[in-house]
Amino acid sequence: MITVIANLKGGSGKSTIAFNLGIWLLTKGETVIAYDLDPQKTLTDVSLVRKDEGVNPELQVKDINGSSVADELRSNFCHVLVDVGAANMDAMKEAISVADRIIIPVPPSQPDVWATQRFLMIIHSVCGERIPDLITFINRADTHRAIRESDEAEEALKMLDKVDILPGRLCQRTSYRRSLSEGLSVFELAGKSKSAEEFNLFADTLYPGLTN
Ligand SMILES: Nc1ncnc2c1ncn2[C@@H]1O[C@H](COP(=O)(O)OP(=O)(O)O)[C@@H](O)[C@H]1O
Ligand SMILES: [Mg+2]
Repeated sequence: MITVIANLKGGSGKSTIAFNLGIWLLTKGETVIAYDLDPQKTLTDVSLVRKDEGVNPELQVKDINGSSVADELRSNFCHVLVDVGAANMDAMKEAISVADRIIIPVPPSQPDVWATQRFLMIIHSVCGERIPDLITFINRADTHRAIRESDEAEEALKMLDKVDILPGRLCQRTSYRRSLSEGLSVFELAGKSKSAEEFNLFADTLYPGLTN
């Protein structure tokens, strides 16, 4: 299955989600290939940190040079994760055109909701009738329920057409930052933390029925 993690704005958590999902699938005994098509190369860098630290399992992260993005992505028979952003629009459009589903992290702010609306317009123009599953969720949600921004952003996402919204949000937590700097998933950093709990729930929803 080709799962593209994308949206137009940087900093929404694409690479963080792609990395943690990749490690989560590997720990379930699944075969995963991740593609880093963003020139920022965060996913590549974090996997190199992990490799340098000698942490197993290793996440295989590939780039695509000189061949068709669509053909390369379709040539795999395992879980494929694609991290791509607006900095590489051509690759983004090709990845979208062959995606089985697109996961769209949305931080709780009005500009991020607007950017998501524009991203959906791009998806529709690329895919025509064959729209992949579109899955949004709030990333970097505030941990204080009294702050309404996450609820408001989620309400705005509910107005969007043909889009699923995951019930489980990922909160703004320092462990996601540490995850990237240390090359460890949030559930490896601390197996019983809130971020591990919420991420496991999130991944279980995306890949139901995997046991280890
Ligand atoms: N839920 C979160 N809580 C705290 N920090 C986060 C969260 N998600 C992402 N981040 C941090 O925000 C920064 C940008 O995330 P990143 O995954 O690189 O975004 P993108 O790939 O969309 O540009 C990174 O430092 C990352 O660790
Ligand atoms: Mg990134």
